[in-house]
Amino acid sequence: QRGPVQEQAPAPTPVVQAVPEAWLTIIYGTQTNNSRMLAERLKHQAEASGLSVRLYRASDYPVREIAKERLLYIVISTQGDGDPPDDSRGFVEFLLSKKAPKLEQLRFSVLGLGDSSYPKYCEIGKILDTRLAQLGATRLLNRADCDVDFEPVAQGWLDQAVGKATEELAPKTATAVVTPLRTAPPAPKHGKEAPVTAEILVNQRLTGRGANKDVRHIELSLGDSGLAYEPGDSLGVWPRNAPELVADFVSLLKVNGETEVTRDGRALPLQQWLTEELELTKVSKPFLERHAALSGSTDLQRLLAPEGAEAFRALLKTHQIIDLLRLWPAPWTAEELVRALRKLAPRSYSIASSQKRVGTEAHLTVAVVDYVAFGARHTGTASYFLATRTGDEERVRVFVEPNDRFRLPRDSARDVIMIGPGTGVAPFRAFVQERAETGAKGRNWLFFGEQHFRSQFLYQTEWQEALKKGELHRISLAFSRDQVEKIYVQQRLREAGKDLYAWLEGGAHLYVCGDAQRMAPDVHEALIDIATTHGGRSREDAESWLSTLRDEQRYQRDVY
Ligand code: 2AM
Repeated sequence: QRGPVQEQAPAPTPVVQAVPEAWLTIIYGTQTNNSRMLAERLKHQAEASGLSVRLYRASDYPVREIAKERLLYIVISTQGDGDPPDDSRGFVEFLLSKKAPKLEQLRFSVLGLGDSSYPKYCEIGKILDTRLAQLGATRLLNRADCDVDFEPVAQGWLDQAVGKATEELAPKTATAVVTPLRTAPPAPKHGKEAPVTAEILVNQRLTGRGANKDVRHIELSLGDSGLAYEPGDSLGVWPRNAPELVADFVSLLKVNGETEVTRDGRALPLQQWLTEELELTKVSKPFLERHAALSGSTDLQRLLAPEGAEAFRALLKTHQIIDLLRLWPAPWTAEELVRALRKLAPRSYSIASSQKRVGTEAHLTVAVVDYVAFGARHTGTASYFLATRTGDEERVRVFVEPNDRFRLPRDSARDVIMIGPGTGVAPFRAFVQERAETGAKGRNWLFFGEQHFRSQFLYQTEWQEALKKGELHRISLAFSRDQVEKIYVQQRLREAGKDLYAWLEGGAHLYVCGDAQRMAPDVHEALIDIATTHGGRSREDAESWLSTLRDEQRYQRDVY
């Protein structure tokens, strides 16, 4: 039992075989498995309508076959600042390159997944949609873009997509095939919609006094739920909004928290909507649009114009929803506001433990977002929620998000190099535990960085213990603010470049976890430098060497 993606029962045999020349191809690109889950559901629904379906993960799709496709559906997410998921880089690059063939024979549609609190919302879906049309393909159905709360939009697109595909292929297949109708794929036992209620066993501050960051070590008991995970997986956490923040919203709206408000046919007290159901911190673009219109602020409207893109991006970084409501007042009614806010979505944290060591527990490393801006306290939804769970009876709803793009080498004799500054260190605690418990023969090398050695060396005593026991073989540390010049992990990578290159040439697997905006690209650059300096490669050659490592799953990233 490993969360949302499960093996499905074998398909019932069609009474008459589908004619093989007419089929629907579905390609998905995924980071957290949502696109995969939807693509599998689409396949399931299409097969239940009697269609023959080919389903591929983008990295497994033989790109040159695309010229042979007649009907193609793409389900793909967008990461961070407009990047494709790791499994889709090659596919997207190929389609955007000059090598992409003309696709006049093709009918297609795209389902994009994303997060509207990023400026490049569903960017990859949009790019592919435009590009396929440019290559001559015909849109069978308009693209749909889904936000974090993807279900309603995704299901609408899925239903239409199956209908259209059936019309397209019907003369060739559906009429010839009598397939017993099948039900939807079984819902995972403990997925996003059916989380496990876990008890908090430990909530301990890892950062010392005087540190300007509050990082927590959280231990959860999964009890007898049977919930299982692998090193590299994440834990989805369903948070509740902070009572102080809910109170601020209620007082701004000047209504009683008990007032009933209806949305999607459900009537709940305002207080409950705000505490349990809606996103109260992260600003989304659609919300900003509504708020700009309602407040009549020309400043806000300017941000939404193409020239305002940079300022808009900056605003998303600094402002929470409450700041918009305070700084640019608008006549929201409770009902309107409840309808304009996004549904509260779970947050995911890389799991910091191995079940081989901790059994039915799951450990997390959580940086608590808590700062003052515009004269008011601002807290992060899930991190603050977790950090304030202190009582004995505290429980949180969690589920496992499998991440099969962040996995220890199958051959345990391989060496591993782990680069995880800040809370990026979390999955590497799981890796080192797992390798120790399974008696892996390969060596483990950890790169860790934080601001200060004294107060922010996360899990310091554990690493020292692991070194002593021979469970960790090498550790390279970069404390950025303990000296005048900043020192980051990538400097340590370069300094140890000769050894690092030798480890990689010897078959080591390399992992990067943490900040996606600056750290991960800087580390990538450092790896290119190392391959040129110590491998005598040209830059171009070094880049293709890294791409090969990535294709071989020996260079894996979990960045956010
Ligand atoms: P700084 O905050 O002193 O700039 C974990 O957050 C550590 O990562 C901190 O020491 C932080 O340093 C550092 N860091 C910041 N930017 C980085 C980058 N581009 N590459 C690597 N580490 C970075």
